Parts: sequence; structure tokens; C-alpha cells
Amino acid sequence: MRIKAEGNVPASPETALSRSIRRVASGDSGRAGGPVLGSAHAKAILFGEHAVVYGAPAVAIPLHALTAVAEVSPRREGTRIHSALFHGDADDAPARIQPLLEAIYSAQRHTGISDMGVELRLDSTVPYERGLGSSAVVGVAVARAVAALAGVQMDADEIFEVAMDCERIAHGRSSGLDPRTVISEVPIRFHGGEVAHIQVGAPLVFVLADSGHAGSTARAVGAVRASLKADPERISGLIDRLGEIAEGSLDQLAAGDREGLGAQMFEAHRHLAELGVSDVALERLVDAARAAGATGAKLTGGGRGGCVIALARDDEHGARLEHALRRAGAARTWRTTVSQA
Ligand code: MEV
Repeated sequence: MRIKAEGNVPASPETALSRSIRRVASGDSGRAGGPVLGSAHAKAILFGEHAVVYGAPAVAIPLHALTAVAEVSPRREGTRIHSALFHGDADDAPARIQPLLEAIYSAQRHTGISDMGVELRLDSTVPYERGLGSSAVVGVAVARAVAALAGVQMDADEIFEVAMDCERIAHGRSSGLDPRTVISEVPIRFHGGEVAHIQVGAPLVFVLADSGHAGSTARAVGAVRASLKADPERISGLIDRLGEIAEGSLDQLAAGDREGLGAQMFEAHRHLAELGVSDVALERLVDAARAAGATGAKLTGGGRGGCVIALARDDEHGARLEHALRRAGAARTWRTTVSQA
């Protein structure tokens, strides 16, 4: 399976991030004594968010257009951070940096270099709190960088554990779907902690649109939990149906059935809205996608802010969808094609 991804970010002179990505790609990440790098891509959930927290299956795709690169080097004393959110010593870091610090310490524990101070630089194009897995991305990129620094090979399960430690600080309880998708290069089905790669029968062009509003996954998950307690019959019915849709989508993905998939996306969105995790801006974007001929559209991730994912008919239609979504208020859009190898 092959994933092609494009963003609508204009071509720009080489940035620290693009330099880092080039160095990761060329394998130039382990010079003796020099800084080492780890990278990770974002994710989008196609079906099953929230329901997955209660054990339902979910389907998610990697978003290669959005990437973070962590660069680490050894430091004589203490840990120092350079990121868009904070520059300084770990001891002075604000609460928002704690998931990043936990990723560093967890990766150090896993690789046996807990007593080493590190200098960590994080460059990321993954927007924070938009349902695209930014905390899992940080966890995976940091795990890979620290493993390179320690000269240790971490397998996918160990990287997952580091990312889960980071997720726990960022969101509280996590189903594990985000880190598993961020680690995977291909779309996955996630069920009960198990990951399976998915067959895709035809190229599928998805458009992601950022509502421009931050969403707190922890708060959205908490709100669903409260609704479930208050109205168990209705809410568990919605959760069951979201799981059935996710499971049913596997055949549609394998057949490359855009119409069928799209219809399921619209239906899943209705149920997520009933769960209480949509908002005015997300509704506007789903409506705009429908009006612009998307075969399907829904919120993706925790919701209550964040992004919408829409299914286009082809690449050219995807470009028109991006335009329509930006006109409807999307702060940013990205396009990604999922196809069979
Ligand atoms: C967040 O990207 C996905 C949720 O299902 C939470 C989780 O799986 O832990 C809302």
C-alpha cells in the first residue's frame, strides 16, 4: 500500500524542519557526538473515534503531509527544550510542555539513559489540539530520537509505550489508536489494542479542513463518558453503531467504494454530533463539503473543535473541495491520497 500526501502549504525556502526531514530521509541522523533525529507523521481517524474508547473497532490513516522532527543531543547537566511553545530548562517548563517532557523521560527509561541530560529541539507542522494526533506525534518522534541517541533499536511496541506515556499526560486515558496510527505507514484497523493493515481497492482522496478552533480530547472524552452515565441506553446505541460503521467500512475500503464510504462518513458524523462532540464550525464545514460534492464528510478525532475529513471523487475534485472548505471558514486544509501499492 502506498500513501501519497500533499498539503496546501506554499513552497518556501528550506526551513529547519525541511532540513531535518531531509536528513532523516537520507539517514544522516547518527553522527558521532552530533545531534540525532527522530520523526513522525500525523494521523486522521476515518471511523470509530470515541467508540474506540469503549472497545469498538476504529479505522485510521497516516497523514504524511504533517510531520514533526525531534533533534536531541547529550547535555552535561539537565534537560533543555526548544519548541514553538517553550524555550528553556525542563524545570521551568509550563504545563503544556509536560507531555513532551514525559516523552523524553519515558524514552530515556526505555533506552537506559535516564541519567543523561539532553537538549531537545522540536520542529513540527502538526497543529496542536486539532484531532490530528499532535501528542502521539511528539511521543513517537521523541522516542525515535532518544533511541538513536542511546544507540538502541526500539521496536514498535516500545515506541508505542513511550507515546502512550506522553498521551496519558496530554489527554488522560487513551485508547492507543492515535499512537498506533502515528507509528504505522499505512491505514489501520484498531480493535482491542490489536492493529491490522487495511486493503484499499482504489485511490481515495481525502481532504482535511481545520476549523481553526482548538479541541480538548480529554474534555470531549469526558463529555461522552458523562452522557453515557446519564443516558446509557441511547449513548451505548450510538457507540455500537459507530463501531459497526467502522467494521463495515473495511469491505468498502477494499472495494474502493467511494459512495458507500462517503454515506457511512455522513452517518458517522450524525452519530458523533448526537454524542455531543460536534460544534457550529464543524457542522458548517461538513455542510460545505456536502454542498461541494464530497461523497462523505465527518469530524475527525476528539471533536468540539479540530478538523473535518471529507472524501473527494478524485484529486482534481479534492483541490476544489479544499477551496470550498477554505471559503466556508477552514483555517487550513490538506489533501492526502490513500491507495493500494
Ligand atoms: C482521539 O484522537 C480519539 C478518541 O477516540 C480518544 C481515544 O481514542 O483515546 C476521541
